[in-house]
Amino acid sequence: MQHVVILLGAPGAGKGTQAQRLTEALSLPHISTGDLFRENLSQGTDLGSKAKVFMERGDLVPDELVIDMLFDRVSREDCKSGYLLDGFPRTIAQAESLGARLDGADATIQVVDIQVPDAIITKRITGRWSCPDCNAVYHATFSPPKTAGTCDACSGTLTQRKDDTAQVVVQRLANYHELTAPLAAWYQERGAFCSVDGNTDTDSVFEACLACVQLEAS
Ligand code: AP5
Ligand code: MG
Ligand code: ZN
Repeated sequence: MQHVVILLGAPGAGKGTQAQRLTEALSLPHISTGDLFRENLSQGTDLGSKAKVFMERGDLVPDELVIDMLFDRVSREDCKSGYLLDGFPRTIAQAESLGARLDGADATIQVVDIQVPDAIITKRITGRWSCPDCNAVYHATFSPPKTAGTCDACSGTLTQRKDDTAQVVVQRLANYHELTAPLAAWYQERGAFCSVDGNTDTDSVFEACLACVQLEAS
Protein backbone atom coordinates (compact mmCIF):
# COMPACT_ATOMS: atom_id res chain seq x y z
CA MET A 1 0.00 0.00 0.00
CA GLN A 2 1.34 3.38 -1.05
CA HIS A 3 0.46 6.17 1.38
CA VAL A 4 0.25 9.58 -0.31
CA VAL A 5 -0.30 12.60 1.95
CA ILE A 6 -1.03 15.97 0.34
CA LEU A 7 -0.56 19.28 2.16
CA LEU A 8 -2.80 21.96 0.66
CA GLY A 9 -2.66 25.59 1.70
CA ALA A 10 -1.93 29.14 0.61
CA PRO A 11 1.63 30.41 0.12
CA GLY A 12 3.05 30.87 3.62
CA ALA A 13 0.35 28.73 5.26
CA GLY A 14 3.07 26.57 6.82
CA LYS A 15 3.20 23.60 4.42
CA GLY A 16 7.00 23.44 4.47
CA THR A 17 7.21 23.97 8.24
CA GLN A 18 4.74 21.16 8.95
CA ALA A 19 6.13 18.88 6.24
CA GLN A 20 9.53 18.95 7.91
CA ARG A 21 8.00 17.48 11.05
CA LEU A 22 5.47 15.20 9.38
CA THR A 23 8.13 13.60 7.19
CA GLU A 24 9.74 12.22 10.37
CA ALA A 25 6.53 11.39 12.19
CA LEU A 26 5.08 9.51 9.21
CA SER A 27 8.38 8.18 7.81
CA LEU A 28 7.51 9.46 4.36
CA PRO A 29 9.84 11.48 2.10
CA HIS A 30 8.98 15.20 1.86
CA ILE A 31 8.49 16.21 -1.76
CA SER A 32 8.10 19.96 -2.35
CA THR A 33 7.69 21.02 -5.97
CA GLY A 34 8.82 24.56 -5.02
CA ASP A 35 12.05 23.14 -3.52
CA LEU A 36 12.57 20.93 -6.60
CA PHE A 37 12.27 23.97 -8.87
CA ARG A 38 14.66 25.97 -6.69
CA GLU A 39 17.17 23.09 -6.80
CA ASN A 40 16.89 23.04 -10.60
CA LEU A 41 17.42 26.79 -10.62
CA SER A 42 20.56 26.64 -8.49
CA GLN A 43 21.93 23.80 -10.64
CA GLY A 44 21.28 25.87 -13.78
CA THR A 45 19.13 23.25 -15.51
CA ASP A 46 16.88 23.99 -18.48
CA LEU A 47 13.82 23.23 -16.33
CA GLY A 48 15.07 25.67 -13.68
CA SER A 49 15.41 28.52 -16.15
CA LYS A 50 11.97 27.82 -17.62
CA ALA A 51 10.37 27.80 -14.14
CA LYS A 52 12.22 30.93 -12.93
CA VAL A 53 10.20 33.35 -15.05
CA PHE A 54 6.90 32.13 -13.60
CA MET A 55 8.10 31.82 -10.02
CA GLU A 56 9.60 35.29 -9.83
CA ARG A 57 6.37 36.94 -10.85
CA GLY A 58 4.27 34.76 -8.53
CA ASP A 59 2.60 32.67 -11.23
CA LEU A 60 2.24 28.93 -11.35
CA VAL A 61 4.67 27.01 -13.52
CA PRO A 62 2.78 25.33 -16.42
CA ASP A 63 1.21 22.00 -15.48
CA GLU A 64 3.20 19.86 -17.94
CA LEU A 65 6.56 21.00 -16.51
CA VAL A 66 5.43 20.39 -12.91
CA ILE A 67 3.80 17.03 -13.55
CA ASP A 68 6.79 15.54 -15.41
CA MET A 69 9.19 16.71 -12.71
CA LEU A 70 6.97 15.39 -9.88
CA PHE A 71 6.32 12.01 -11.46
CA ASP A 72 10.01 11.59 -12.13
CA ARG A 73 10.74 12.28 -8.45
CA VAL A 74 8.04 10.00 -7.01
CA SER A 75 9.10 7.07 -9.17
CA ARG A 76 12.31 6.81 -7.13
CA GLU A 77 12.86 3.98 -4.70
CA ASP A 78 12.37 6.11 -1.54
CA CYS A 79 8.73 6.79 -2.56
CA LYS A 80 7.83 3.13 -2.89
CA SER A 81 5.70 3.01 0.24
CA GLY A 82 4.44 6.56 -0.04
CA TYR A 83 5.34 10.25 0.06
CA LEU A 84 4.31 13.60 1.52
CA LEU A 85 3.47 16.22 -1.10
CA ASP A 86 4.01 19.91 -0.29
CA GLY A 87 2.81 22.30 -2.99
CA PHE A 88 1.44 19.69 -5.39
CA PRO A 89 -1.21 19.47 -6.76
CA ARG A 90 -1.99 23.14 -7.23
CA THR A 91 -4.51 22.91 -10.07
CA ILE A 92 -7.38 20.55 -10.83
CA ALA A 93 -5.42 19.30 -13.87
CA GLN A 94 -2.48 18.36 -11.60
CA ALA A 95 -4.85 16.57 -9.19
CA GLU A 96 -6.40 14.67 -12.08
CA SER A 97 -3.04 13.49 -13.36
CA LEU A 98 -1.98 12.35 -9.89
CA GLY A 99 -5.32 10.55 -9.53
CA ALA A 100 -4.85 8.86 -12.91
CA ARG A 101 -1.33 7.79 -11.99
CA LEU A 102 -2.48 6.23 -8.71
CA ASP A 103 -5.68 4.78 -10.13
CA GLY A 104 -5.49 1.01 -10.08
CA ALA A 105 -2.35 1.11 -7.94
CA ASP A 106 -2.55 0.00 -4.32
CA ALA A 107 -2.53 3.57 -2.98
CA THR A 108 -4.44 5.89 -0.63
CA ILE A 109 -4.53 9.68 -0.81
CA GLN A 110 -5.03 11.79 2.33
CA VAL A 111 -5.40 15.55 2.06
CA VAL A 112 -4.66 18.02 4.85
CA ASP A 113 -5.69 21.60 4.08
CA ILE A 114 -3.87 24.17 6.25
CA GLN A 115 -6.05 27.27 6.53
CA VAL A 116 -4.56 30.71 7.23
CA PRO A 117 -6.27 34.06 6.54
CA ASP A 118 -4.69 36.22 3.80
CA ALA A 119 -4.03 39.03 6.28
CA ILE A 120 -1.53 36.83 8.18
CA ILE A 121 0.21 35.49 5.07
CA THR A 122 2.14 38.64 4.10
CA LYS A 123 3.73 38.92 7.55
CA ARG A 124 4.79 35.30 7.45
CA ILE A 125 6.26 35.45 3.97
CA THR A 126 8.12 38.74 4.21
CA GLY A 127 9.80 37.59 7.45
CA ARG A 128 10.78 34.16 6.18
CA TRP A 129 14.39 32.98 5.93
CA SER A 130 15.14 29.64 4.28
CA CYS A 131 18.14 27.35 4.15
CA PRO A 132 19.09 26.62 0.52
CA ASP A 133 21.10 23.57 1.67
CA CYS A 134 18.50 21.61 3.69
CA ASN A 135 15.28 23.62 2.99
CA ALA A 136 14.68 24.37 6.70
CA VAL A 137 12.35 27.35 7.18
CA TYR A 138 12.66 30.13 9.78
CA HIS A 139 10.93 33.41 10.53
CA ALA A 140 12.68 36.55 11.76
CA THR A 141 10.08 36.99 14.54
CA PHE A 142 7.97 33.83 14.84
CA SER A 143 10.71 31.16 14.68
CA PRO A 144 14.16 32.72 14.53
CA PRO A 145 17.28 30.54 14.15
CA LYS A 146 19.56 30.28 17.22
CA THR A 147 22.21 32.34 15.41
CA ALA A 148 20.92 35.01 13.04
CA GLY A 149 21.56 34.11 9.40
CA THR A 150 22.65 30.51 10.11
CA CYS A 151 20.63 27.30 9.79
CA ASP A 152 20.22 25.44 13.11
CA ALA A 153 20.07 22.10 11.32
CA CYS A 154 23.05 22.24 8.94
CA SER A 155 24.85 25.58 9.59
CA GLY A 156 24.01 26.71 6.02
CA THR A 157 23.68 30.44 5.27
CA LEU A 158 20.02 31.49 5.35
CA THR A 159 18.60 33.41 2.41
CA GLN A 160 15.35 35.17 1.49
CA ARG A 161 13.46 33.89 -1.54
CA LYS A 162 13.16 36.23 -4.52
CA ASP A 163 9.39 35.71 -4.62
CA ASP A 164 8.99 36.61 -0.93
CA THR A 165 8.21 40.30 -1.43
CA ALA A 166 4.92 41.95 -0.46
CA GLN A 167 4.34 42.71 -4.15
CA VAL A 168 4.81 39.15 -5.44
CA VAL A 169 2.76 37.74 -2.54
CA VAL A 170 -0.30 39.55 -3.90
CA GLN A 171 0.01 37.65 -7.18
CA ARG A 172 0.76 34.33 -5.44
CA LEU A 173 -2.34 34.72 -3.28
CA ALA A 174 -4.51 35.65 -6.28
CA ASN A 175 -3.34 32.50 -8.08
CA TYR A 176 -3.92 30.44 -4.95
CA HIS A 177 -7.54 31.59 -4.65
CA GLU A 178 -8.28 31.16 -8.32
CA LEU A 179 -6.49 27.90 -9.12
CA THR A 180 -5.56 26.02 -5.94
CA ALA A 181 -8.26 26.74 -3.32
CA PRO A 182 -10.92 24.93 -5.44
CA LEU A 183 -8.95 21.71 -4.81
CA ALA A 184 -10.33 21.59 -1.25
CA ALA A 185 -13.89 21.02 -2.48
CA TRP A 186 -12.61 18.76 -5.27
CA TYR A 187 -10.88 16.44 -2.77
CA GLN A 188 -13.71 16.70 -0.26
CA GLU A 189 -16.03 15.16 -2.84
CA ARG A 190 -13.56 12.36 -3.48
CA GLY A 191 -12.69 11.06 -0.01
CA ALA A 192 -10.13 11.54 2.73
CA PHE A 193 -9.95 15.27 3.39
CA CYS A 194 -9.32 17.23 6.55
CA SER A 195 -9.00 20.94 7.22
CA VAL A 196 -6.81 22.35 10.02
CA ASP A 197 -6.50 25.82 11.52
CA GLY A 198 -3.02 27.01 10.50
CA ASN A 199 -3.36 30.31 12.33
CA THR A 200 -2.03 29.13 15.69
CA ASP A 201 1.41 28.11 16.99
CA THR A 202 3.39 25.56 14.97
CA ASP A 203 3.13 22.82 17.63
CA SER A 204 -0.67 23.01 17.66
CA VAL A 205 -0.80 22.98 13.86
CA PHE A 206 1.47 19.94 13.84
CA GLU A 207 -0.73 18.05 16.33
CA ALA A 208 -3.79 18.89 14.23
CA CYS A 209 -2.13 17.71 10.99
CA LEU A 210 -1.00 14.48 12.61
CA ALA A 211 -4.45 13.85 14.10
CA CYS A 212 -5.95 14.39 10.63
CA VAL A 213 -3.71 11.82 8.99
CA GLN A 214 -4.23 9.28 11.77
CA LEU A 215 -7.98 9.88 11.85
CA GLU A 216 -8.27 9.42 8.11
CA ALA A 217 -6.10 6.32 8.17
CA SER A 218 -8.21 4.54 10.78
P1 AP5 B 1 6.45 26.95 -3.05
O1 AP5 B 1 7.85 26.92 -2.68
O2 AP5 B 1 5.63 25.74 -2.83
O3 AP5 B 1 5.76 28.20 -2.36
P2 AP5 B 1 4.28 28.44 -1.78
O4 AP5 B 1 3.21 27.49 -2.07
O5 AP5 B 1 4.01 29.82 -2.19
O6 AP5 B 1 4.43 28.17 -0.30
P3 AP5 B 1 5.54 28.69 0.60
O7 AP5 B 1 6.74 27.81 0.51
O8 AP5 B 1 5.74 30.16 0.34
O9 AP5 B 1 4.85 28.58 2.03
P4 AP5 B 1 4.67 27.35 2.99
O10 AP5 B 1 3.23 27.00 3.05
O11 AP5 B 1 5.64 26.26 2.69
O12 AP5 B 1 5.02 28.07 4.36
P5 AP5 B 1 6.30 27.93 5.32
O13 AP5 B 1 6.22 26.69 6.10
O14 AP5 B 1 7.57 28.23 4.59
O15 AP5 B 1 6.30 27.34 -4.58
C1 AP5 B 1 7.03 28.44 -5.10
C2 AP5 B 1 6.67 28.67 -6.55
O16 AP5 B 1 7.02 27.49 -7.33
C3 AP5 B 1 5.17 28.87 -6.84
O17 AP5 B 1 4.79 30.23 -6.66
C4 AP5 B 1 5.09 28.43 -8.31
O18 AP5 B 1 5.59 29.42 -9.17
C5 AP5 B 1 6.05 27.24 -8.34
N1 AP5 B 1 5.36 25.98 -8.06
C6 AP5 B 1 5.59 25.13 -7.01
N2 AP5 B 1 4.76 24.07 -7.06
C7 AP5 B 1 4.00 24.25 -8.16
C8 AP5 B 1 2.92 23.50 -8.73
N3 AP5 B 1 2.50 22.35 -8.19
N4 AP5 B 1 2.35 23.98 -9.86
C9 AP5 B 1 2.77 25.12 -10.44
N5 AP5 B 1 3.76 25.88 -9.94
C10 AP5 B 1 4.37 25.45 -8.81
O19 AP5 B 1 6.00 29.14 6.34
C11 AP5 B 1 6.04 30.51 5.90
C12 AP5 B 1 6.64 31.38 7.01
O20 AP5 B 1 5.75 31.40 8.12
C13 AP5 B 1 7.98 30.89 7.55
O21 AP5 B 1 8.78 31.99 7.86
C14 AP5 B 1 7.60 30.12 8.81
O22 AP5 B 1 8.64 30.14 9.78
C15 AP5 B 1 6.38 30.88 9.29
N6 AP5 B 1 5.38 30.03 9.95
C16 AP5 B 1 4.98 28.78 9.57
N7 AP5 B 1 4.03 28.31 10.41
C17 AP5 B 1 3.81 29.30 11.33
C18 AP5 B 1 2.93 29.43 12.45
N8 AP5 B 1 2.09 28.44 12.80
N9 AP5 B 1 2.98 30.58 13.16
C19 AP5 B 1 3.84 31.58 12.81
N10 AP5 B 1 4.69 31.52 11.78
C20 AP5 B 1 4.68 30.39 11.04
MG1 MG C 1 7.13 25.97 1.23
ZN1 ZN D 1 20.03 23.94 6.61
